[in-house]
This record gives sequence, C-alpha cells and structure tokens, in this order.
Amino acid sequence: MKENGKITATTYQMKRDDVTVESKHPDETIAIGRIVGLSLEGSDVVALVGDLGAGKTCFTKGIARGVGVPETYYITSPTFTLVNEYPGRIPLYHMDVYRLSDSAEMGDIGYEEYLNGKGVVVVEWAEKIEDVLPADALFVYIEHLNDSERKIRFTGSSDKVETLRHKLEEGGFS
Ligand SMILES: Nc1ncnc2c1ncn2[C@@H]1O[C@H](COP(=O)(O)OP(=O)(O)OP(=O)(O)O)[C@@H](O)[C@H]1O
Ligand SMILES: [Mg+2]
Repeated sequence: MKENGKITATTYQMKRDDVTVESKHPDETIAIGRIVGLSLEGSDVVALVGDLGAGKTCFTKGIARGVGVPETYYITSPTFTLVNEYPGRIPLYHMDVYRLSDSAEMGDIGYEEYLNGKGVVVVEWAEKIEDVLPADALFVYIEHLNDSERKIRFTGSSDKVETLRHKLEEGGFS
C-alpha cells in the first residue's frame, strides 16, 4: 500500500530472496551485469555494495549493455559528478555516492527525480543512502575474493530474484 507515494513498512511486507554467483574475470562480471540489465524495467533501482575496487563500476558496465546503452558510451564512476546519465532502451542513471557521508548530503543533486523517474538507477556505495532507496531495490553485494575472483550476491523481492536466478543459470552462472 502507498502513502504519499511512498511504500510504508507496516503495510508492505515484501517476500525477499537471494542468489549468489561467482565471477572469475572482469568480463564475467560484465556478463553477469548484462544479464541483470536485460531484465530491468524503468524505475528499477540497483543498489551496489562492495569495497574499493570490488567491481561495482565493472558490473555497471554490464548493466549498461543490458539496458541498451550504445557501446560508444564509456561507463566511468561518477565519483565527482555523483550521477552520469546514459540513453538506452531505458535511460540509465549511474550514481556514485562514495564522497557523501549519508543521504542528507544528497540535497542538491535532485536524486528524488532520478529515483522516482522512468529510468533505471544504479547506485555505487548504496549502503550510505539506504534510507532513501525504495523497498524493492535489488541489492548487489560484491565481495573481493582474490585478484580475479569476486562473489556476487543479489537480494531483493523473491519474484525478481527468482527470475534472475533462472537467467543467470541460463547464462552459465550459478
Ligand atoms: N572478477 C572480477 N570482476 C570485476 N572486477 C575485477 C575482477 N577481477 C579483477 N577485477 C578488477 O577489479 C577492478 C574493479 O574496479 P571497479 O572500478 O569496477 O571497482 P569499484 O567497486 O567500482 O571501485 P570504486 O569503489 O573505486 O568505485 C578492476 O581493475 C578490474 O579489472
Ligand atoms: Mg566504481
């Protein structure tokens, strides 16, 4: 149920699920991101959590390919600009809130317009602004295992995660 456009915690109990895959190379992380991107719809939010150099931007490159951002666009971390916008099947808003301490510092970038807009929003360091993310955001935890291997865990609504699990299996990731 919605109240003032926001989903209230007491009235909305979303069933959650999770799925974990391993990546052995940056190209695999891009391929996994692309599978996620292909299944995204307008206004979906992808919350990326992982240490420096974990592979959040690498993963976002794959999402960009999946949502149809032309190959001619080079995807870089918007660490200083906070948000980069790319055209695609659905517009992609790539945010990086590394330099912020919390969501209170987001005031002047108009983030609500991105979060409530028609595009897909991907946020690096999403844990810092978790309080302003929608309840149905897809969380992606990227863990650095060694130089070339990463563990990638997805959590979100069981519907979305179930669909994603099948697509990842089809793509050879499990
Ligand atoms: N399996 C892998 N998946 C992703 N990146 C990998 C993998 N193996 C090695 N790497 C390397 O790890 C680095 C990941 O960098 P990336 O910029 O994507 O990280 P990030 O999480 O966005 O960092 P930051 O917090 O600085 O924004 C790249 O140099 C990439 O080549
Ligand atoms: Mg990055």
